[in-house]
Amino acid sequence: MRIAPENIWGNAVSHSLNYKETPDNVVTLPQTDSRPSGMDKLKITGGHRLKGDIRISGAKNAALKHMCAALLTDQPLQLGNMPATLGDVKTLSQLLEHIGVTVGLREDGVAVLQAKNIMSHVAPYDLVRKMRASVIVLGPLLARHGVAEVSLPGGCAIGTRPVDLHIMALKAMGADIDIEAGYIKAKAPKGGLKGAEIIFPKVSVGATENLMMAATLAKGETVLKNAAREPEIVDQGMALIAMGAKIEGLGTPEIRIQGVSALQGATHDVVPDRIETGTYMCAVGLAGGEVRLRHTRTDFLSALIAPLQLAGVEITSEGDDVLVRRQDSHLKGVDIMTEPYPGFATDLQAQFMAMLTMCQGAGMVTETVFENRFMHVPELCRMGADITVHGHSALVRGVSHLKGAEVMATDLRASVALVLAGLVADGETYVNRIYHLERGYENIVSKLGAVGAQVERCAG
Ligand code: UD1
Repeated sequence: MRIAPENIWGNAVSHSLNYKETPDNVVTLPQTDSRPSGMDKLKITGGHRLKGDIRISGAKNAALKHMCAALLTDQPLQLGNMPATLGDVKTLSQLLEHIGVTVGLREDGVAVLQAKNIMSHVAPYDLVRKMRASVIVLGPLLARHGVAEVSLPGGCAIGTRPVDLHIMALKAMGADIDIEAGYIKAKAPKGGLKGAEIIFPKVSVGATENLMMAATLAKGETVLKNAAREPEIVDQGMALIAMGAKIEGLGTPEIRIQGVSALQGATHDVVPDRIETGTYMCAVGLAGGEVRLRHTRTDFLSALIAPLQLAGVEITSEGDDVLVRRQDSHLKGVDIMTEPYPGFATDLQAQFMAMLTMCQGAGMVTETVFENRFMHVPELCRMGADITVHGHSALVRGVSHLKGAEVMATDLRASVALVLAGLVADGETYVNRIYHLERGYENIVSKLGAVGAQVERCAG
């Protein structure tokens, strides 16, 4: 049976999605090169308050790691609440298929991944360069297959983003690792990886996830100290536990993993996307109105909700929904500083800054996680924002209005911040190179359209 997924861009790309039939009503995930259509732009006509419902998708940053966990077993891993149309999910499924994993989407929207046989232990540059998270295949490949060659991801728009912590920790587990011709070439010792005590000198989401997966199949106990505590890591740990892994301390800075000899298949629902949730909260804060965000959670968004409330946004949880409201009150300036979870998420910094551009007074935004994450500032200023950057801090002085312009961003969250600014700008805003948005926001055009924003995709 053929499945037509809702795609992010209306009908524009649906004809080019290439589904391959496989047994058991499973079809392969859409495999398109999003680049030609991804060069398109979004046209946003500002000035509309938001009203209605938005359903939040499964978290991109959890889904990608669950997909890599499929490498740890020869049995099927079934993932519900999958954000299957995301560009990053498609890129990773290409990489996993190259390695030998069958990746399919069932009629009911559940993704099914199975790594019966590892056909290749190489993650090639061409696929890794599209998405840094690809480096997360290193730990599971090494643990199950004993050997892995993964292209170094290189820097990216938001900083140098090294992977030294991943390498250091896998070496502590006995892996022999060399860097050759731009590749991380890793070999597990005879008999497999060995449990170790690893103290991360810096909190890293990716390194925690890579090592947690590697440790599930290692000999003995691994202790990860100064581990990251993000909800996506807790979600990943729960999926691994459902697969038979022995893990304690999820959500704390010390995670203990007892290695087991094999993992089995499991079924797991991806946790709701807190960054998507937070993005739409900032959108309502900026544009005003009342929106119900459905099928999400607020418990892991406290670091965003507190400053949003201080700024004058009303937030009420109702079961799995959250009601976000700003009617006649003006936004007030508030200071925020990004930090590893449970601090304010760096992935929400650009969106919060876009909201502050229209505040009364001023707000200071300090970025401590990545060294170069203010690329949205010059573009927001081109729209009339008043922002001054001093080192790791940006002082945002509120202005009374923004003006539509043609803008471009070089990363996912910066791009969405420009979309948010476009919602309130006078006239039309064109956000170029929407493949960045396509990587991480499911159906953003239809989701914003459903709450009254005027957003459309046009040829780039
Ligand atoms: C993940 C998220 C990303 C988010 C980030 C921080 C995914 C797919 N991506 O990225 O959206 O912005 O967490 O919340 O889940 N570092 C090192 N050496 C390393 C690894 C990291 O110095 O080996 C540094 C990084 O350069 C950065 C900091 O540690 O300054 C945090 O990075 P990390 O938490 O690893 O981010 P990612 O896992 O890459």
